Amino acid sequence: MKNIGSCSRKTLDRKAETVICCFSLFSLQSGTLERAIAAFRSVSGDEGVSLGEAVREQHGRDESVHKCRPPDVVVFPRCVEEVSALAKICHQYQLPIIPFGTGTGLEGGVGALKGGVCFSLRNMDEVLDLHQEDFDVTVEPGVTRKALNSYLRGTGLWFPIDPGADASLCGMAATSASGTNAVRYGTMRENVLNLEVVLADGSVFHTAGRGRRPRKTSAGYNLTNLFVGSEGTLGILTKATLRLYGIPESMVSAVCSFPSVQAAVDSTVQILQTGVPIARIEFLDDVMIGACNRFNSLSYPVTPTLFLEFHGSSKSLEEQVSITEEITRENGGGDFAWAEDEEMRARLWKARHDAWYAAQALRPGCKAYSTDVCVPLSCLPQIIVETKEDLMRNHLTGPIAGHVGDGNFHCIMVLDPDDPDEVQRVHEFTERLARRALAMDGTCTGEHGVGLGKRTLLREELGPQAMEVMQRLKATLDPKNLMNPGKVL
Ligand SMILES: *[C@@H]1O[C@H](CO)[C@@H](O)[C@H](O)[C@H]1NC(C)=O
Repeated sequence: MKNIGSCSRKTLDRKAETVICCFSLFSLQSGTLERAIAAFRSVSGDEGVSLGEAVREQHGRDESVHKCRPPDVVVFPRCVEEVSALAKICHQYQLPIIPFGTGTGLEGGVGALKGGVCFSLRNMDEVLDLHQEDFDVTVEPGVTRKALNSYLRGTGLWFPIDPGADASLCGMAATSASGTNAVRYGTMRENVLNLEVVLADGSVFHTAGRGRRPRKTSAGYNLTNLFVGSEGTLGILTKATLRLYGIPESMVSAVCSFPSVQAAVDSTVQILQTGVPIARIEFLDDVMIGACNRFNSLSYPVTPTLFLEFHGSSKSLEEQVSITEEITRENGGGDFAWAEDEEMRARLWKARHDAWYAAQALRPGCKAYSTDVCVPLSCLPQIIVETKEDLMRNHLTGPIAGHVGDGNFHCIMVLDPDDPDEVQRVHEFTERLARRALAMDGTCTGEHGVGLGKRTLLREELGPQAMEVMQRLKATLDPKNLMNPGKVL
């Protein structure tokens, strides 16, 4: 349990109150920011408030190609009481609030479009409540997925959601992240039981009720789900209660090559149809596997490829594997390259996890941008084939890697950011790709979020009525539009 020490609710509430009643005496026209900063310091101390240019720059950007717009100031709260007190000050002075986890997002979600205050949550990084027998845990917002899993070492439990980066768990909740294990374990949507949220006016609430963590409920609206994927536009997530899973008794991984995209995807659909509880099933197109070969000195055949992983008891693994082998063989798949011991499996998955860097290495000095559409499974072969033709026609580099079990795939676009013509062509390509997915009843973003770049597409995806409902929810929870303005909506 965390010793909150100087963060005890009483002290802070008193501090924040004094601060706020003093401020209402000042004029808000001039020197607003200066006065707000003084108030921040009285809450978080000098070391908890940063105006340094490098710090601000670093907190205004993520890993996307979107341009950096630094916040005016970065605050580093240590507990929810501080977050609340700081938010109250922002509310008083009408300053935008931008929550920040690890800055590993891919859609420009942390850019301070209108300036304002970045709330870096990295100092709130404790695992608070582990209930082993109930398979749940509560974490502070700065705890990353890898940190949680090393904390869980020895308990026989793990948290399986694995986006590429070692992101913070609340950042993952905010963007509704997922990764290679989603086909078996779901995404953040399925795995958050409760959230503690600080709203724009500084009020604090728990989406499922304080301390609640039942595995199911039919009590009222699902507010937890409303905040999963809200990308910082509705509130600041200051705690998350998450589902955990037992570490499977055994795991085996395999790689299998196919004569065509269709054959690889048909195998995937058939494997899922037979009910094999496949843990991971990842597709790499010929360009991607070629890049991985070069980057990791491997020698897989340069054809459409599936990386697979099975979890279970050794008996159930045998069965899963034999059904899968039969299906891939019938679809013209090659022999499985197996990896059973941990080291071999790690080697194999490293190749998949390095896809981003392998793609970038295709054109040294260029930047990567990843698309992430998601379509119903049966549409996958068609959209992948059309997309590859589109890439070729437009002379673009975009190896494809996909979480095919979910119908979600990435074109890792490798582009020269200083070539405006290429940037434009990539932009047009990604819009065409998203519209192709929408035309097939899919979504413009399976796991990266809307952020800055996909707002028009979101409108097309949801339609005007659903957008208006979202806007009304936003206006209710954040009437001054202070929470991460300019994103999503
Ligand atoms: C509510 O939403 C959360 C987060 O998306 C999800 O994990 C949970 O299962 C949902 N609860 C119900 C009862 O649907």
